Amino acid sequence: MLTNRPKTKLLVDGGDPEETLRIKSLMGFIDGQTTNPSLIAKNPEIQGRLAAGHRLSEQEEKDAYKKIVQSISPLVGDAGVSIEVFADLNSRAEEMLAQGQEMFTWIPHAYIKYPCTHEGLRAAEMSVQKSIRVNLTLCFSQEQAAAVYAATRGSREPVYVSPFIGRLDDRGEDGMDLVRNIKKMYERGDGHVHVLAASIRTINHLLCSFLLAAELATVPGKALQEWAAAGFPMPDQDFKYKAIDPKGEALKPIPYQELDLDQPWESFDLAHELTTEGIQKFVADYRSTLKRSA
Ligand code: E4P
Repeated sequence: MLTNRPKTKLLVDGGDPEETLRIKSLMGFIDGQTTNPSLIAKNPEIQGRLAAGHRLSEQEEKDAYKKIVQSISPLVGDAGVSIEVFADLNSRAEEMLAQGQEMFTWIPHAYIKYPCTHEGLRAAEMSVQKSIRVNLTLCFSQEQAAAVYAATRGSREPVYVSPFIGRLDDRGEDGMDLVRNIKKMYERGDGHVHVLAASIRTINHLLCSFLLAAELATVPGKALQEWAAAGFPMPDQDFKYKAIDPKGEALKPIPYQELDLDQPWESFDLAHELTTEGIQKFVADYRSTLKRSA
């Protein structure tokens, strides 16, 4: 059991209620959960149906997602369950909002995930005006995080932004720097956006997220199990984050940018190739579960 709870809220990054239950028993609590189309496609029940030769209709996929989220929701705390809309590169904000509005009714504490794109930001802006909680996902740049802040200003509920650490590391950039830079930039803000450290691969990522005072961190079950097996270490005064890749190569620092959070959100550069690739991968994983005609 984890007795010395970090200030950073801990979420399970997954799509299997059984796994969430196992992690909850291991830690004694879980603050929340994040899901995404790739994680839902890996859900054991969905995989079982595919293995039996049954591909899902769009309605069946939606029903399965709802059932998964409804099973997870009672297991987690007030950081809620993040549910991702199905969006491709052509999806319009209005379509995403329509999905988000429906998904928001599935459970009491839903966060609707929209991508950090122009249309995703537009959907988020409309959502917060309707008091729908949002999580802006696939964040790979400080400019995207500035736009999230500006687009959701005035939200009554905390807004989440999810910088993806591991995927930046994967291409040789120090993903932890993105979290550090966003936290620094938000110091001058009103605190309405909470940083949810995502795409965490290692205990090192997790401990550094604590040190940077990320409000939340979402962690795959496997990494949480490793953390538990190591006795839930916390970063001490001597903790130094090693910005290296799995081969021991140094990761390239991401420089801090001076950005004005008072600018209109459309003025920030939202383009990032990893956001585009991330959307394409989610679409591919989602489609891999669907009937060919769907
Ligand atoms: C966050 O909400 C995402 O589900 C997640 O952290 C993605 O991580 P990955 O890069 O391991 O897919």
